[in-house]
Amino acid sequence: MSSTYVPGLEGIIGAQTAISHVDGANGRLVYQGYVIADLAEEMSFEEVAFLLWKGHLPNRDELDGLTKELATNRELTPAARMALDALPKDADPMDVLRSVVSVQGVEHRLAKPTAALAIHATASFPTILATFYRRQHGLEPVQPRPELGHAANYLWMMNGKESSPEIVRALDTYLVLLADHGMNASTFTARVIASTESDLISCLVGAIGALKGPAHGGAPSAVIEQLEEIGTAENAEPWMRDARKRGVRFMGFGHRVYRVYDPRAKILKAMCERMNPKFYALASRVEQTALTILHEEHPERPQSTNVEFYSAGVLQAIGLPKEYFTPTFASARVAGWSAHVLEQAAHNRIIRPQSEYIGPEPRKPVPLADRG
Ligand SMILES: CC(C)(COP(=O)(O)OP(=O)(O)OC[C@H]1O[C@@H](n2cnc3c(N)ncnc32)[C@H](O)[C@@H]1OP(=O)(O)O)[C@@H](O)C(=O)NCCC(=O)NCCS
Repeated sequence: MSSTYVPGLEGIIGAQTAISHVDGANGRLVYQGYVIADLAEEMSFEEVAFLLWKGHLPNRDELDGLTKELATNRELTPAARMALDALPKDADPMDVLRSVVSVQGVEHRLAKPTAALAIHATASFPTILATFYRRQHGLEPVQPRPELGHAANYLWMMNGKESSPEIVRALDTYLVLLADHGMNASTFTARVIASTESDLISCLVGAIGALKGPAHGGAPSAVIEQLEEIGTAENAEPWMRDARKRGVRFMGFGHRVYRVYDPRAKILKAMCERMNPKFYALASRVEQTALTILHEEHPERPQSTNVEFYSAGVLQAIGLPKEYFTPTFASARVAGWSAHVLEQAAHNRIIRPQSEYIGPEPRKPVPLADRG
């Protein structure tokens, strides 16, 4: 058995999956055999969630069934509503999501993960976020509307008014693009927890925690902050060269697997140019500069734009506040996380790798009185 330590587990195969494939060399992302670009423009989040959970695109009856099930599971449990009320208004929405999803899970105990529980969890994420957002702004919560699709209902519950079909379509496309992505850190986390035969909600809570970090899903709001600091196209190059001297990483660039342009970023870039020209004008200049500098620093290690960079411009155009970018990412990825949990549970063996011990040689403990 191999015993070589690989930092970050780079290149190590941690699972077999039929759910999605990230082909980093060729910039291809596939869900259950379908190339992402073929799904992104036309499919709803509901269709893609069904695909991830069940392995095939739904027919009309199956889609109607799922849409209805999602719509009837949007209400929160009384305990979750109380938890939302108890949390401080200035809490990070990602922490709120992690906490309230966890509270919802107290009813599940060690329930075996099922597609029905995955649907329930997926339906509840937008309700948690929108309820907290409205409370933060001193607004009454808005009841979910069963006749609205997943994306439209999220925006309805946030804003208390219906969004235009273009905006709803943009959010749907975003949710489709972000719904799954191979063995990323949060999905791996979910699978590790699932492998102990724990419950679905515990897997999702762990995954939310992993997604939160800026090296993973926490990047899009940081993209906005970097762009705000840069301010003007002329300032891009001096700011970015200075940032690298200070060891700052460019948010929205670099990826463990992609060595070419992220296929999701390509779609989001085109959407951003159309929907958010002001953001795009500065962002595209920053992008060119970032790619030049990253190439100069490591010509042997191609780095490119990742999904987070233009996500920020698209989510801003949709009207979501930047604190809600990562939780909205979670609201897409919950479909993938739960699909992976179901897959792990169906073919389970506990995930339990080894560590390489680099601590001191065996030694005897010195009594407290004799320690200097
Ligand atoms: C995504 C990320 C964590 C991948 O990390 P990784 O797999 O360890 O990265 P790689 O092995 O390809 O490259 C590491 C090297 O490239 C540099 N690098 C990678 N991404 C960089 C970035 N965004 N800005 C500047 N330098 C970067 C690192 O400084 C490092 O160089 P060093 O070895 O001289 O220290 C990393 O690229 C990153 O932090 N990006 C910024 C945050 C971000 O956009 N996250 C969202 C990811 S979808």
